Amino acid sequence: MSNASSVATKPELVDRFGRRIEYLRLSVTDRCDMKCTYCLPKSFKGYQEPKDWLTFDEIERVVAAFARLGTSRVRLTGGEPLLRRNLPDLAARLSALPGIKDLSLSTNGSRLPELATSLRAAGVKRLNISLDSLSRECVTQITGRDSLDEVMAGLNAAQEAGFNPIKLNMVVMPGVNDHEVEAMTQFCIDRGFILRLIETMPMGSTGLTAGYAPLGPILERLKARFDLIPEIKEMGGGPARYWRTQDGRGQIGLITPISQHFCETCNRVRLSVSGTLYMCLGQEEKVELRPLLRNGCSDEELVQTLRQGIELKPEKHEFREAPTKIIRFMSQTGG
Ligand SMILES: C[S@@+](CC[C@H](N)C(=O)[O-])C[C@H]1O[C@@H](n2cnc3c(N)ncnc32)[C@H](O)[C@@H]1O
Ligand code: SF4
Repeated sequence: MSNASSVATKPELVDRFGRRIEYLRLSVTDRCDMKCTYCLPKSFKGYQEPKDWLTFDEIERVVAAFARLGTSRVRLTGGEPLLRRNLPDLAARLSALPGIKDLSLSTNGSRLPELATSLRAAGVKRLNISLDSLSRECVTQITGRDSLDEVMAGLNAAQEAGFNPIKLNMVVMPGVNDHEVEAMTQFCIDRGFILRLIETMPMGSTGLTAGYAPLGPILERLKARFDLIPEIKEMGGGPARYWRTQDGRGQIGLITPISQHFCETCNRVRLSVSGTLYMCLGQEEKVELRPLLRNGCSDEELVQTLRQGIELKPEKHEFREAPTKIIRFMSQTGG
């Protein structure tokens, strides 16, 4: 039996806890043109060297190996993925791979005016755009610069390019923007975006000090104001639990890694820009793929390494029990 056919007979990646891994989050850069208070420290200097970034050929090879093992969904992220030069070329290569059915992108939106159309043409199906506030002052305080107009232009460009749905990611922080969830919900209803509220994760000193607002009480506020009912439709296979307005115009997802973790249904792993495959956002288990790729490994060896890596996937994160455990920042892992 050839290597390729032996792989084909066992196409799935299933971890020790019976979870099927079918979603890869792929960081294409650890750089960013913003410095969100919960993500990247203003003085950060620990970026990966360009020589260590996986090339497009290397990324394509890894994604193809994942696809042969049953991964159908890939999200491009970072850092700010739109800073990676020629990203639409990479997107076109990945979306054309057999087995990849859903290529999506998380972005802060700043470069969407130039890139939205070519990303869509390259096969990116869905966009998540980060926006934590509608107030210029608050956005400036959170992102480290006056970026509200850029993000708004990015949102317009994404809609003009035909992306639908567009999800807005809002990290909710006590005393910073938690008073804005109603305004943000109304904005999303008016503009046709899906809102996703996120509890801050203690990743690095930034994630720890930004503070998290438990989303339970916030959901109660939103239910009272918008008469929300649970959304039963499948909304992308991620960890968010969705609610919607009675008329369906408003949809809100809650991502609650701290107050109510969802590790038992985790279906994903993350690849950093320099080829570290992290098994969990909130744990250290990882496999280094770059040395393998650069030492001429065979496809079979690559696939075996992915399988061995998935065996390491931990049962759950410990953000509550050990909030200081993870010192890497979200931007380094690929959020
Ligand atoms: C790391 S960013 C990368 C993509 C892009 N730069 C962006 O901001 O959307 C991906 C997502 O992670 C979120 N994020 C960053 N740090 C976080 C933290 N400590 N806790 C929860 N979410 C975080 C961001 O708000 C964003 O929605
Ligand atoms: S959340 Fe996104 S935009 Fe903000 S600093 Fe992190 S990578 Fe950059």
